[in-house]
Amino acid sequence: MTDTMNIHEATLAEALSPIDRRRFLALSGAASLAAVVGSRVEAQQAAIPSVAPGWSAADIPSQVGRTVVITGGNGVPQTIPEGTFPPAGVYSGLGYQDARALAAKGATVIIASRNAAKGGEAVALIKAEHPSANIRFEQLDLAELASVKAFSDRIQSQVDRIDLLINNAATAGTPDRRVNGNGHELCWAINMVGHFSLTAHLLPLLRNGSSPRIVFLSSGAARRATAFDDLQTEKDYTPLKAYAVSKAALLVMTRDLNRRSAEAGWGIHITATHPGTAKTFLIPSGPGPDSDFGRSIASHPERFRPAELGALSTLYAATHPAAQAGLYYGPVNEQYEVGVSEDHATIGTPEVAAQLYEELSKATGQGMG
Ligand SMILES: NC(=O)c1ccc[n+]([C@@H]2O[C@H](COP(=O)([O-])OP(=O)(O)OC[C@H]3O[C@@H](n4cnc5c(N)ncnc54)[C@H](OP(=O)(O)O)[C@@H]3O)[C@@H](O)[C@H]2O)c1
Repeated sequence: MTDTMNIHEATLAEALSPIDRRRFLALSGAASLAAVVGSRVEAQQAAIPSVAPGWSAADIPSQVGRTVVITGGNGVPQTIPEGTFPPAGVYSGLGYQDARALAAKGATVIIASRNAAKGGEAVALIKAEHPSANIRFEQLDLAELASVKAFSDRIQSQVDRIDLLINNAATAGTPDRRVNGNGHELCWAINMVGHFSLTAHLLPLLRNGSSPRIVFLSSGAARRATAFDDLQTEKDYTPLKAYAVSKAALLVMTRDLNRRSAEAGWGIHITATHPGTAKTFLIPSGPGPDSDFGRSIASHPERFRPAELGALSTLYAATHPAAQAGLYYGPVNEQYEVGVSEDHATIGTPEVAAQLYEELSKATGQGMG
């Protein structure tokens, strides 16, 4: 363990194969160096090799026979004109790109999101591109636990197994703090509580799956969460703070669930990913350009990549035979090739993970396993 590694990094490093351990140690050093010189991206580029150079959605192995649930997934391409949100260009949802790529490879895809019109549009567009695609929409509002349960009950009556769950949907908050019917702040409710509940409901179907996987979407913003003492940003709300806490919690929970899967023999391969900075609707349709989040992101328009590229790390974690459970994948260079990401949730000790699990179990009335 180096001086700059925390307990979690050391645990993760121990769990890796010798090759990945060397890569992870190089990456931990790169992150520390980057924090010092203030140039994380440059340090990453210098130090983190891609685990799959040149890998693209075209390389996804056949998904025929696999049943996939993707939360969100309804963000069909739209052109955002100059002056609306920087940078202008074609925006689409990462979940939509996941659905499109997996349906193209023969998976049975269920797009689970709250808006039937948008979901139907995504299904129609993917079918127009891939006429034999087996894809459909199911209504799910992650902000409401009753909707999560109703969705899960419906799916349980339709299929006997799920092979892949991509917990993709998220909100980056609203300009003012808002809560759902249970009094939960929306980033916390949708991004973390809703996905915890969904995963717990679908666990039996996933355990029936063939080489089942779960991918949780985190974010580089998770590094901004410095403590879990105000999970619902009651003391000091900004959209970016609320989002950062939820995404750090997702990352910590991913690792905790992967540990539980290994220890209890669920047989489920669980990873987390982040997409870098992609042209999606997360900020334009969430807190908007005039929020702390919007200003922080839009001050570097050159960093935005098409959503197709941002989706690659998730598609890799979801399908690549060499993707390792428990790891956190993301783009590692300007080409957005996939690699093992730096740790964006360094506050995630096992004790913190246990507290989070308890908090989420209390909020949902559910446990895993
Ligand atoms: N874009 C980036 O640069 C970036 C960076 C880091 C991490 N991420 C992560 O990537 C994932 C995908 O986001 P995105 O960037 O593709 O943003 P997006 O285009 O805004 O997609 C978010 C999706 O979540 C859905 N959603 C929001 N609230 C929901 C709810 N209550 N119930 C069900 N679905 C809900 C949205 O559906 P509606 O259309 O109904 O709102 C939409 O389909 C998120 O987890 C995000 O945190 C993105």
